Amino acid sequence: MKNSLALACVLLFAFCFVDVHALDNGLAKAPPMGWNSWNKFGCDVSEKLIKEMADAMVTSGMRDAGYIYLVIDDCWQIDRDAQGNIMPDPKRFPSGMKALAEYIHSKGLKFGLYSDAGTLTCQKRPGSRGYEFQDARQYAAWDVDYLKYDWCSTSTQNAPASYSIMRDALLKAGRPIVFSICEWGTSKPWLWAKDVGNLWRTTGDIQDCWDCKRDWGGMGVVHILDLQDGLESYAGPGHWNDPDMLEVGNGGLTITENRSHFSLWAMLSAPLMAGNDLRTMSPEVKEILTNREVIAVDQDPLGLQGRRVKRNGDQEVWSKQLADGGRAVVIFNRGAKAAEISVSWTDIGYPPHLSANVRDLWSHKDLGKLTGPFSTEVPSHGVVMVTIRP
Ligand code: GAL
Repeated sequence: MKNSLALACVLLFAFCFVDVHALDNGLAKAPPMGWNSWNKFGCDVSEKLIKEMADAMVTSGMRDAGYIYLVIDDCWQIDRDAQGNIMPDPKRFPSGMKALAEYIHSKGLKFGLYSDAGTLTCQKRPGSRGYEFQDARQYAAWDVDYLKYDWCSTSTQNAPASYSIMRDALLKAGRPIVFSICEWGTSKPWLWAKDVGNLWRTTGDIQDCWDCKRDWGGMGVVHILDLQDGLESYAGPGHWNDPDMLEVGNGGLTITENRSHFSLWAMLSAPLMAGNDLRTMSPEVKEILTNREVIAVDQDPLGLQGRRVKRNGDQEVWSKQLADGGRAVVIFNRGAKAAEISVSWTDIGYPPHLSANVRDLWSHKDLGKLTGPFSTEVPSHGVVMVTIRP
């Protein structure tokens, strides 16, 4: 009797207190792809907008190119009811989240929401602090598939501990939910978040500009890019560095810069979350976002993040190892004038005289079998993106 009581106590302890230690939700084997409301619409979100965006994801071909998650960022929530349940803004979401999820799912898409580890979100809506398990149960009941979890109003909270609570809450809620950590790289999440989330932001907020810097921490594409250098080894299937969402098509970048932003994010194995108005995007923007050859580099099953292998002033070479033994290579010109830039095979880890097929992923043309070096003219702020396959 005494023995079985002791065994029961041990089992109970094991079940209640040490049951969950790793994320292990089997999700995001490739970097998640989708659309998020924040970059273009900020707080101006509504059921109408989200439904229109779901429709546009289908008609524009974005869904079929792989963009599956439709995520409502901050401002969908307005208050908590007397029982502490989180309430969507009834004016903006009159049919409620379950009905919206159903609509999104009927389009072959998945549904994402946003919350915050602190008491308030960044736009001062109710955060999940103290309500983690109740909120996770609610998300599961609404058929949510993705949660972006921010870091405002967290005072002295510890990031690994706070994010682990929501991880455990999501696992306990019993629905597969991608967990996106958004603490802006503040506590170096790449060092601890592999077992906590499926992706983690590595920097402050991306801005719709090439190289601007805001005093509150927002920054343009090239500054975000520079902060990714050295983080490569932390990413892999199920756990990704997140250099923030795409600004492609939001107006602050030229078409050349949009193409560079997209190519470099693919090299980084970044989550590809579009942030533009899909209902009105131009053919050029659509062509960038749905370039399947570039998307395939991002989604390559090996899941190795690309790295900067050469830097010579404004001229850079980035290389990403692919599952078939090939390399994706981005030749990047940060300078103000077009430049001739070359890559030798040793730059990308191949013997110098290896014969390899080179294919241009933006002109969609095979450039032939070469033994390197490969030289090409690259426009100002532009890239040439190729695959090199022995
Ligand atoms: C920021 C976050 C942005 C967006 C915003 C919403 O903290 O980095 O991506 O979610 O909050 O208020």
